[in-house]
Amino acid sequence: MRGILVKGSLFFAIFILLLVSGNFANATPATQAGEYSSDDFAYESRCRQCHAIIYADWEGTMHFNAYLDPFYLEEVKIASEDTDGELDEFCSRCHTPIGVVSGEIPPIDGSEMSDIARLGVQCDFCHVVSGSNGTGNAPFTVSPGDTKWGPFNDSRDAYHKSEYLELYTQSEYCGMCHQVINPVNGLVIDDTYSTWKESQYAEENVVCQDCHMTEGITEFKANPGRASSSAPKRDHISSHDIVGANTLIPPMFGAENVAEMAVERLEKATTIELTAPEIASAGDEVTIDVAITNSGAGHKIPTGVSEIREIWLEVTATDANGESIYDAGSLDADGNIIDAKMLYNNVLGDTNGEETKSFWLAESILEDNRIAPKETVTEHHSFVLPENAVYPITVESTLKYRSAPQDMIDHLLGEETEVPVVDMNEMSAIIYDPSTPANERTQPEPESESTPGFGVVTAAMVLGFTMYVLKRK
Ligand code: HEC
Ligand code: HEC
Ligand code: HEC
Ligand code: HEC
Ligand code: HEC
Repeated sequence: MRGILVKGSLFFAIFILLLVSGNFANATPATQAGEYSSDDFAYESRCRQCHAIIYADWEGTMHFNAYLDPFYLEEVKIASEDTDGELDEFCSRCHTPIGVVSGEIPPIDGSEMSDIARLGVQCDFCHVVSGSNGTGNAPFTVSPGDTKWGPFNDSRDAYHKSEYLELYTQSEYCGMCHQVINPVNGLVIDDTYSTWKESQYAEENVVCQDCHMTEGITEFKANPGRASSSAPKRDHISSHDIVGANTLIPPMFGAENVAEMAVERLEKATTIELTAPEIASAGDEVTIDVAITNSGAGHKIPTGVSEIREIWLEVTATDANGESIYDAGSLDADGNIIDAKMLYNNVLGDTNGEETKSFWLAESILEDNRIAPKETVTEHHSFVLPENAVYPITVESTLKYRSAPQDMIDHLLGEETEVPVVDMNEMSAIIYDPSTPANERTQPEPESESTPGFGVVTAAMVLGFTMYVLKRK
């Protein structure tokens, strides 16, 4: 009975979303669970024979890991227990779409799954999407078989037939899965697509693919090349290392390169500006302002499971002898964040209005402290300069990111799993003794956007190498 209710409200939620997004134009009915067999889908090893570079991009990414991800597998087990299995199909539809359309899951323990269904969000799932019924909760239509759908309207048939579908070039393609609505009560728990849709990026038609499928990271950057060894040269081939911010999971599958790309992406997501007085006397109350701008992401930061993700600012003041004067946002020995002014994430509430990270149980949003696209938020910190402090005083602010609180991962994956903390951005300032002559009060150089950093150089090297491989073929 409740099963029917759940399904009913799932479709209702999709229907409401359709109304809101006004996406009737190319609506097709969503593929039902069990409509196909996993034998209808082709292994990625087949695609790799001709699309080797695209394959290498995709391997080890979170789409590759979408089902095998141990964090997911632990959470879905708990969600299934909490809801008597009623959400099994719901969760699996995004994390193992082939598992669901082939009717191999549920059971949620995966005991009936084929090898191909375990490969998460993969080539012959994404490229047999032949339409969608809007955005949110994975309303995709798939037509597995000889035809591969994609972004080219002039692609000749090779081993397979090729078909153009505009959807592949639009955010609505990603928005099928990157928009999650609790099917029981309609609460939006992942609003990546809708926060993009409400942003300036949507107005300017900067889509998910522009930032996540090009080396541009914060804007479209053309990548000339060939889509397959035997294909014609084109002005742009999209990269398939569709990376976000996850540095915890990819290394578990040997994909250090994916974690490195996530770090580079996090480093480009924001700008920060620290304002501190140039001089202060002992006993003065010193005020530090740090302004954080989401300058590079086309959605709120963090996004996705943003009740679990953590962004915070660490602010420290240290005297010339290395004595700590002020410290907010450092980690204790167990990896807990101490005294941060703000945790930039989404706070979900359960039936009793208490905070929960189990989004399947969430009924309300208690607080949304994320930073919207182009938004600037400012933190104020202050401390009294001690009498015995030795000048000059160094003030440092570092914006930090991690995929999950350490205690949550300790609990789910064991204490030996350390959640990496990524420095997204930093800025520092020096406070001098008022007697220091003005011309001797030098300040650290702020990190300049235009200096080609490590990431840019690596990207250029990878591009150069790719071009070299392509030329040799
Ligand atoms: C998450 C879904 C997704 C997955 C997984 C995926 N693709 Fe794609 N693919 C896309 C989208 C979207 C585009 C079009 C991007 C654009 O042009 O804006 C695309 C474009 C392509 C193209 C056209 C050439 C290009 O790169 O622009 C080929 C060929 C292709 N994909 C093959 C593959 C193969 C082979 C795999 C597996 C190794 C794969 N794709 C995995 C979504 C996906
Ligand atoms: C025998 C070689 C070969 C194999 C195997 C192969 N492809 Fe292709 N594929 C090509 C060629 C050649 C093109 C044309 C590229 C172009 O026009 O630039 C292509 C184009 C595509 C496109 C672009 C279609 C469009 O119109 O936008 C997609 C998507 C695609 N392939 C996906 C796949 C997937 C998924 C697999 C594995 C199930 C696969 N291919 C296996 C050779 C191959
Ligand atoms: C203007 C460039 C830009 C656009 C457009 C954009 N993104 Fe992002 N995205 C980023 C950057 C930069 C990050 C890293 C910062 C972060 O984690 O939020 C990111 C992070 C992410 C993450 C990981 C978030 C986390 O914290 O776990 C996901 C998932 C994601 N994007 C999906 C999407 C989808 C889906 C769309 C389209 C609806 C999209 N992005 C549009 C730049 C962009
Ligand atoms: C079939 C559903 C599906 C589609 C379509 C899809 N994704 Fe995903 N995507 C997922 C799932 C599921 C994960 C997360 C797996 C996990 O974390 O366990 C993911 C992960 C990601 C991540 C990595 C997030 C991180 O924290 O590092 C990014 C970035 C991303 N997707 C962007 C995109 C973009 C851009 C598109 C459109 C071109 C797209 N996705 C299409 C289901 C999908
Ligand atoms: C409509 C698609 C969709 C549905 C339904 C869905 N997810 Fe996800 N899930 C995603 C996407 C997309 C991401 C990646 C977002 C990000 O990186 O922040 C994700 C990320 C996650 C993560 C974080 C994994 C990591 O490594 O950081 C967990 C855990 C998770 N999902 C569990 C679940 C559970 C449990 C359910 C069912 C109650 C569920 N998901 C339902 C799309 C979905």
